[in-house]
Amino acid sequence: MKTIIEPFRIKSVEPIRMTTRAEREQCIEQAHYNLFNLHANDVLIDLLTDSGTSSMSARQWGGVMEGNEAYAGSPSFYRFEKAVKDLMPFKYLVPTHQGRAAENILFTVVLKEGACVPNNTHFDTTRANVEAQGAEAVDLVIREGLDPVSEHPFKGNMDIGALEQFIEQHGVKNIPMCMITVTNNSGGGQPVSMENIRATRAVCDRYGIPLFIDACRFAENAWFIKTREPGYADKSVREIVQEMFSYADGCTMSAKKDALVNMGGWLAMNNEDWAVECRNRLILTEGFATYGGLSGRDLEAIAIGLDEVVDEDYLRYRIASTAYVAEHLAAEGVPTMRPAGGHAVYIDARRFAPHIPPLQYPGQSLAVELYKHGGIRGCEIGTAMFGLRPDGTEVAANLDLVRLAIPRRTYTQSQMDYVIEVVHEVFDQRAALRGMKFTRQPRALRHFTGHFDYVD
Ligand code: F0G
Repeated sequence: MKTIIEPFRIKSVEPIRMTTRAEREQCIEQAHYNLFNLHANDVLIDLLTDSGTSSMSARQWGGVMEGNEAYAGSPSFYRFEKAVKDLMPFKYLVPTHQGRAAENILFTVVLKEGACVPNNTHFDTTRANVEAQGAEAVDLVIREGLDPVSEHPFKGNMDIGALEQFIEQHGVKNIPMCMITVTNNSGGGQPVSMENIRATRAVCDRYGIPLFIDACRFAENAWFIKTREPGYADKSVREIVQEMFSYADGCTMSAKKDALVNMGGWLAMNNEDWAVECRNRLILTEGFATYGGLSGRDLEAIAIGLDEVVDEDYLRYRIASTAYVAEHLAAEGVPTMRPAGGHAVYIDARRFAPHIPPLQYPGQSLAVELYKHGGIRGCEIGTAMFGLRPDGTEVAANLDLVRLAIPRRTYTQSQMDYVIEVVHEVFDQRAALRGMKFTRQPRALRHFTGHFDYVD
């Protein structure tokens, strides 16, 4: 059969409140043209993020009832620990309330002022957490990863030559750790190949630098390895995941993505000294070592989600449904980041609206119009998000994208057909899109709380 169907039935539904264009124009103006300021009830199809927006399964909800809320030594923690270690066999596991809490604890322990962390591409909170320690976050993705039209199958790969050169230039003593983000969220949800993880490991070994994986979308990355990398077609996703993590010394994880839950995360590592310090920090900021920032019921849901996310029927559907949107947009000439990524479709706003210069945020303008036209909430990933440097100056980001992130197991194919139609209609009227400016901006992570307006 050609048609890949959703491998689940819907058992519980959440109504969507329909809105008109006039209502949405008023809502977005009141939100100062920042989509993060909208009330979610005023959004029809919410593609702001795939983080924490998954639908849980009946089995996960059953697990929620089994959650044990003991302060110390809950059986839910041990089920969580077993599920994590079956996939990522690191010695020490620290549960946190979400990914950035894991990042914050790790970087507080490991980074000193003036240190550098190379990564294929840091996600925004990861970068901000590195910089909060007075350290530098350096992105070393391969050249193809910055080229929206390249069809390279692993555009998330680390540039191995650039990594070696970077280490030589900055000195091992200034690089306490190296990271790889799977999949590469900021670069278009693009995967990293096993060969590249292995090569990164070899460089880290040569210089004695620990390698951590930002593991948020590990299962989607493993599916791309299975389907695109020679030698992996007959391996199970679980085996591929285990191999990916066998090359690392630790990981940070947001369970809000590939653990199919609404809240959760963890930090894992083999280094005992770091683990002891991280646990102390955890107790100070998150909670006791066997629950971190989570309830026992959350730990149960994660344990079950980790089993479901490596299911091949699920991953086949998941990756096909993202590609479905990307291919239908591309077929009508909408410029998108190629090839389709794992968790999101990225519209290339710079080519969509070439009349808007990067410092007038073409991505923000497009994201606002998608909301006004069809009630779709996407997210600018471009100059508004990344253009402000710590010294207060502003530069164009490498790319100006609008991310349509697809929540896991949440929207149906006809809802995605609607999304495709809205984007096509906005594309037909793209000449009318106008540049934007900040009217208020905080110094860090300005895209979350800043205010925008149209330029005159
Ligand atoms: N690393 C990556 C690659 C991420 O995509 C995210 C979150 C985090 C770390 C932080 O995890 O949200 O649990 O604290 N990304 C979300 C997104 C927010 O929309 O892409 P968190």
